[in-house]
Amino acid sequence: MKPVKISRGVFWVGAVDWNIRDFHGYKTPRGTTYNAYLIIDEKTTLVDTVKREFAGDLITRIKDIIDPANIDYVISNHVEMDHSGALPEILKIAEKAKVVCTAKGKEGLKKHYKQEWNFETVKTGDELKFGEKTLKFVELPMLHWPDSMATYLVEDQILLSNDAFGQHVATSQRCNDKVKEIDIMDEAAKYYANILEPYSGLIPKAVEKIVAMGIAPRIIAPSHGVIWLENPMQIVNAYLEWSKGVHRDKVIIAYDTMWHSTEKMAVAILEGIASEGVTAQLFHLRQSDWSEIIKEIKFSKILLIGTPTINNAIFPSVSGFLEHIKGLRFKGKAASVFGSYGWSGEAPGAVVKRLEEAGFQIIDQGLRIQWVPGAAELAQCFEFGRKIAGQIKGSI
Ligand code: FEO
Repeated sequence: MKPVKISRGVFWVGAVDWNIRDFHGYKTPRGTTYNAYLIIDEKTTLVDTVKREFAGDLITRIKDIIDPANIDYVISNHVEMDHSGALPEILKIAEKAKVVCTAKGKEGLKKHYKQEWNFETVKTGDELKFGEKTLKFVELPMLHWPDSMATYLVEDQILLSNDAFGQHVATSQRCNDKVKEIDIMDEAAKYYANILEPYSGLIPKAVEKIVAMGIAPRIIAPSHGVIWLENPMQIVNAYLEWSKGVHRDKVIIAYDTMWHSTEKMAVAILEGIASEGVTAQLFHLRQSDWSEIIKEIKFSKILLIGTPTINNAIFPSVSGFLEHIKGLRFKGKAASVFGSYGWSGEAPGAVVKRLEEAGFQIIDQGLRIQWVPGAAELAQCFEFGRKIAGQIKGSI
């Protein structure tokens, strides 16, 4: 329960949530952290809080450094409750503290907590000097909520970036130079694909804005996961690359199946793709981590959806998955469909429409097989896979 010193007068006082496995739908097999930072100077500033049930951890860590009643400012970079949940508890103790946030942040906090706190709203470029140290604010609307902002600690060159540049991992060490057991960049990519992908178009502009403000971080301290202490620009450069769209030579097959017929098709298609030397990955939609599938789609060229037809419609898990990927607004991806059916086989046609609505380029109207695929039908699936692989080779 000890705070962790990040820089002179700057401490991590957040919470580690080792056991969370589902973060409002995002699967978190490695848990997560809620990072909050205490900055000590003539006045005392807390940057962000933690999820409500971890308020005790936050307060204990703060008490190890100062009496939390002496907090002068709480910077609320983002309204979402994993960062603001402990704000009511903190403000009960730090009665005179000002809550510093964007105008949208104030609106959101008032609506969430029904409280008239002592708010001070800030805009991009505004500064708050609280002794030798200065905070500079950067609004980051829609990265990933309208209220989002980042806070820069000027003298220490620490960018407190909130959700941006985060990863959902729980670790015993706080900084990337000490965390060797996890591929942090891979977790950051999963986080990007699942949370920031729809807002990719805003990322280069946000980075430009930050650079134009003279912000050159020595440390990037997000609100989830590990702090980027060693080579912090690696994550900024990765975001710039990911925001352009990354389409590697890979096919993702996401399917569900009732009596294994669509599954047999999926495997035969995968073998056809692989026979052409192209990488493919297979995911059963009720047995796989959707957040992981989303990451793999982000870094692939083609998505193949497999669905049985049930009650003249798409299988429910497949339908839910299609709705989910529509919201993520992938760009520059291609797709097709396959599925087994018993009577009428409407599902693949319906999937094509849904994939188009989700922004995918349809490269083939797909393959339907009636009843259980036998040797001849499996050979058709294999050929379908080869044809899909050919699209990759021809770069679609
Ligand atoms: Fe980590 Fe948007 O909250």
